[in-house]
Amino acid sequence: MFKVNDNYLKLPGSYLFSTIGKKVREYKAANPDRSVISLGIGDVTQPLAPAIIEALHGAVDEMAAAETFHGYAPDLGYEFLRNAIAKNDYADRGCEIAADEIFVSDGAKCDSGNIQEIFSVDNKIAVCDPVYPVYVDTNVMAGRTGTYDAKTGTWSDVIYMPCTAENGFAPELPKETPDIIYLCFPNNPTGSTITKDQLQMWVDYANKVGAVIIYDAAYEAYISEENVPHSIYECVGARTCAIELKSFSKNAGFTGTRLGYTVIPKDLKSGDVMLHSLWARRHGTKYNGAPYIVQKAGEAVYSPEGKKQLAGQVGYYMNNAKTILTGLKEMGYTVSGGVNAPYIWLKTPAGMTSWEFFDVLLEKANVVGTPGSGFGPSGEGYFRLTAFGTYESTVEALERIRKI
Ligand code: MLT
Repeated sequence: MFKVNDNYLKLPGSYLFSTIGKKVREYKAANPDRSVISLGIGDVTQPLAPAIIEALHGAVDEMAAAETFHGYAPDLGYEFLRNAIAKNDYADRGCEIAADEIFVSDGAKCDSGNIQEIFSVDNKIAVCDPVYPVYVDTNVMAGRTGTYDAKTGTWSDVIYMPCTAENGFAPELPKETPDIIYLCFPNNPTGSTITKDQLQMWVDYANKVGAVIIYDAAYEAYISEENVPHSIYECVGARTCAIELKSFSKNAGFTGTRLGYTVIPKDLKSGDVMLHSLWARRHGTKYNGAPYIVQKAGEAVYSPEGKKQLAGQVGYYMNNAKTILTGLKEMGYTVSGGVNAPYIWLKTPAGMTSWEFFDVLLEKANVVGTPGSGFGPSGEGYFRLTAFGTYESTVEALERIRKI
């Protein structure tokens, strides 16, 4: 008789954004006359930039002719894209990352969920609280966590690093030593960031205790302030302790097109074993590469026109962020984030729980956001709004919130 992976049975409920999606679908079915504005999941709304569309069309045409047709992509990604990433995202920022340390994939969500596979189940993870749920859930699936305590909303055998208003939503070094540390800056969900010195402290700590940092830099394009690192490899010593995850979803609108990459420096080792070799083995065995067409589109992100157009797109969303921040402040909400990140983190009013506020917002304003408690216990009493809507819907959502 076959048996299932019963680690899956430990997971409470469904994935956060699936739960929200279901609630919203039910609400819409019961109230078909209401127009609901979603500022919930961080999904982009602006069309792909012209330079990217042009590259897509060109690549589609190449696929139509025998001489230029492409079959399986190289496991680790086409060199034209890896070279563009190595130059633009690393060399130009003074970071030492070679093209063959970059693994192209179909997105950072998959990579952030899959990367734990190359580590022993005995490793202990440390996560920020609140946190992007994928990091924790995938470790639960792998059997790396203990049991779930529904009262506290925490797992045994996981180190939680609370990110609260008191510490500026920046984690402090944990008391217990972890093996794997997940960090995401600019942060999802709080929209907070840390300075280069703060990140250097994490790199020094990881090197000292022999931990690895999985650094999710998916929102790097939204950094507007000086002294906020765009990559962990800006820190001295990161090559021996850090893996970096990057996405094309948020900076270039690829949420539906799917493209991302993971960087594993060859200096990152456990004893004599390079993590790079393990991830290469996994990639080669389980993955056939992101489509040629999409990788060509990714290359266009780094063209002069692409860069210009995408700066405009990021600016568009950040104008939404500013509109939300200013509007909510005027209404008396306590808000943060939204300066170096497309997320605004607000304190729920009148002591409401995160889910109570979700219901009020949905029913009274027909606006969808994300309850902070869905990201972890320290998110209780908070709520996340995304700047990825259209400008018009963002303004309309604020008007509706004002009237609650
Ligand atoms: C979010 O809303 O947190 C993100 O869009 C989820 C994701 O990128 O997978």
